[in-house]
Amino acid sequence: MTTDNTTPRRWLRRAGAPRLEFGADYNPEQWPREVWAEDVRAMQEAGVTVVSLAIFSWARIQPRPEVYDFAWLDEVIDLLHAGGIGVDLATATASPPPWLTARHPEILPVDKFGNTVWPGGRQHWRPTSPVFRAHALRLVRALATRYGKHPAVVAWHVSNELGCHNVYDYSDDAATAFRTWLRDRYVTLDGLNEAWGTDFWSQRYSDWDQIIPPRQAATHPNPTQNLDFKRFSSDALKDHLRAERDLLRELSPDVPVTTNFMVMGQMNTMNYPDWAAEVDFVSNDHYVLPGPQARDELSFSANLTGNIAGGRPWFLMEHSTSAVNWQPINVAKKPGELHRDSLTHVAHGADAVCFFQWRQSRAGAEKYHSAMVPHAGEDSALFRSVVSLGRRLRDLADLAGSDRVPAEVAILVDWESWWVSENDSHPTDRLRYRQEALDWYTALLDHGIRADVVPAGAAWESYRMVIAPILHVVPAGLAGRLRDYAATGHLVTTYFSGIVDQNDQIWLGGYPGAFRDVLGIRIEEFAPLLDGETAELDNGTTGTLWTDRIEVTDPEVEIIARYKTGEQAERPAITRRAVGAGSAAYVSTRLGADGVAAVLPGLLDAAGVTSELPPALRGRVELARRGDHRFLINRTSEPVDLGADGILEPRGVVILRS
Ligand code: GLA
Ligand code: GLA
Repeated sequence: MTTDNTTPRRWLRRAGAPRLEFGADYNPEQWPREVWAEDVRAMQEAGVTVVSLAIFSWARIQPRPEVYDFAWLDEVIDLLHAGGIGVDLATATASPPPWLTARHPEILPVDKFGNTVWPGGRQHWRPTSPVFRAHALRLVRALATRYGKHPAVVAWHVSNELGCHNVYDYSDDAATAFRTWLRDRYVTLDGLNEAWGTDFWSQRYSDWDQIIPPRQAATHPNPTQNLDFKRFSSDALKDHLRAERDLLRELSPDVPVTTNFMVMGQMNTMNYPDWAAEVDFVSNDHYVLPGPQARDELSFSANLTGNIAGGRPWFLMEHSTSAVNWQPINVAKKPGELHRDSLTHVAHGADAVCFFQWRQSRAGAEKYHSAMVPHAGEDSALFRSVVSLGRRLRDLADLAGSDRVPAEVAILVDWESWWVSENDSHPTDRLRYRQEALDWYTALLDHGIRADVVPAGAAWESYRMVIAPILHVVPAGLAGRLRDYAATGHLVTTYFSGIVDQNDQIWLGGYPGAFRDVLGIRIEEFAPLLDGETAELDNGTTGTLWTDRIEVTDPEVEIIARYKTGEQAERPAITRRAVGAGSAAYVSTRLGADGVAAVLPGLLDAAGVTSELPPALRGRVELARRGDHRFLINRTSEPVDLGADGILEPRGVVILRS
């Protein structure tokens, strides 16, 4: 379905039989030389096949502007190679060294208040700084020239988590680059003024030089300026990725290029579906955020990463063996979770399972972040669990390269809808885009139904059912695709969908303007709910956050549920319009995962979607399929009886070959 078989598949440059890769970020510069040989020995014991090296090594590799020191890196790479461990070699440009920022403070980012972002952490560089770019590319050239043909190097790792800390820069460099980007997009100032609606609040521009990034303003900033700044900022980092990549391809054409995305939680600043074509294979970093849907969120992110990768295998570059250090409270993983988290990524297409990091740091901001070798050393439950995970992955070598089996249901995710729907000066600022999508995913898993999480721009037409939660930004082309789809497929959408076009301008004539006809409804005013306020539905579910005053415009529309209490009492809450062999349904309130689960059976029945799991397993077990492998993943902390297939341990995973 989303698999694009026309694109050649590139993967690590290495000889030998296919296998699942296993490893970590490796930061040997934090340790004395004696530890390096120990590291390689312990890596072999754990079954490590690949490490990401030199990610934060700029200050060591180039200690002064004209001085390079490769001796230590030569030694580490040779040691790893002799130990049979591949190197995903970083371009080392993620964190500029002190000499560079001291000499060129003009590369430092500026926040929206005009404050300089100083060195002291990492990633303190402007994505659009020509000075930074020149220095970064000089380093890339030096590394690619020295190591591009080294047999240990299996991939290039551009920078690291591009944009994790520096995506929004409001400096003068950013202003200049933003204007260039806007001229490309709009060609004329009239075009920009029209798109941005600048007749509002006397914002009409008469010269390109008047335009600035959305720096701290007196009140609500222009929303289209904001949207374009988000697009521009994602593009600016994509441009940096391309610049490093092009140089690597020129100097080291045999080695594939990747960079680690962050498809996880609320991280939405880089538009990864738009970046995926820039890399030879997609890599992702994922960290678990505690909460009742933590496990489902991991599965959701892993599945989405697989679809961003076009259905092809992808590389899990980082996750954690146990606690992280950057949440308010950092909890250790429970027994079983290390294996379950890793194998859930594999179930959704990861052909590599790697961690941040190999050896837990003794110093620095991440010394309380778990690693493969903890502070306690190799004589630890954690290291033993790592070793057994390595063994398990080795036994799954025949999975490598296999495709995920598409589900029958797709949940659409759209970065621009995510950005815009959560804007200020909206009917409510309580809306959380990704949570709504995740609730649908959880509800489907509760029924034992597999779902794919798919970028809105991908090919989702062949799914039986397409759920488009809060699909807010809907250009005419996307509206047309969904309308056509509903003639044969089963579309479900929710509150605040189909409201604006690509310029964040309202589709007029009653909401939801882009979907009014296909849904057969019309809404004149939104009716968001106050905190703590609820609206009961006559199907026993409860709405929060939002309601709509729905008027049914097509007499054929079936009312699936009505409001029972509140301002909309007696009015439709959930509707469905049959369209030929297909249908289009609308859910006007936030039901939460339980409420969605209560509504789903009717929608699934109409679409002819059924669970592939026996009734006793539905809800307790997530099923995922790759090639001829079926993954049964325990969503609970209790054992689950699989009958002839044995017992699924608490938080366990069983992999069956059909
Ligand atoms: C990110 C970075 C790593 C490390 C981890 C910690 O993913 O890429 O260098 O900081 O977070 O979780
Ligand atoms: C004030 C302003 C108006 C408008 C309203 C919105 O009264 O004078 O321009 O912004 O607030 O409530």
